[in-house]
Amino acid sequence: MTKRPLAIALSSVLLLLGLAACGKSEPAAEGAGHKAAHKHISAFDGDAARGEKLAATKLPTGQACVDCHGAGGMKPIDAATPVIGGQYQDYLFHSLQQYRDGKRDHALMTMQIKGAFEAGTLDEQGIADLSAYFAGQDGPLGDLHGK
Ligand code: HEC
Repeated sequence: MTKRPLAIALSSVLLLLGLAACGKSEPAAEGAGHKAAHKHISAFDGDAARGEKLAATKLPTGQACVDCHGAGGMKPIDAATPVIGGQYQDYLFHSLQQYRDGKRDHALMTMQIKGAFEAGTLDEQGIADLSAYFAGQDGPLGDLHGK
């Protein structure tokens, strides 16, 4: 009497496992297709080695990120220029998107990013790379305890 319900229970477990396995592979395939079609870049898709080179590359203004933010983004030229070394990667990425889109505006900083996007020397992948590089620095922003 107990054998049949057990068999039914077992087969429904197997069925559920099968469904779960199918369900898992689908979004991954969809994600890859989506990426190829729209080149969607997220804050964590950057390559720090490429970002390091970009950080030292002159922008259309004739300046590079490190000329103002200092080596590794940790020695800014003045108090109005923030330390960006060791800052959260997604914070950096979204800040750069916002300067590009005019949602954040600053006389010096906006023109660096906007100008480079307009000239085609910087793109979404580039700001992800820059974010990976600066976030990877052992900066003072990670732990503010005692500051
Ligand atoms: C001419 C000097 C200059 C250059 C070149 C420059 N920046 Fe900046 N950057 C600034 C200043 C000044 C600010 C502060 C702007 C503000 O208060 O919004 C800033 C702000 C930022 C911020 C926001 C930081 C925060 O704490 O909110 C990021 C991120 C940033 N810069 C990244 C970069 C990157 C990446 C590059 C190179 C592609 C770059 N900057 C080039 C001067 C510069």
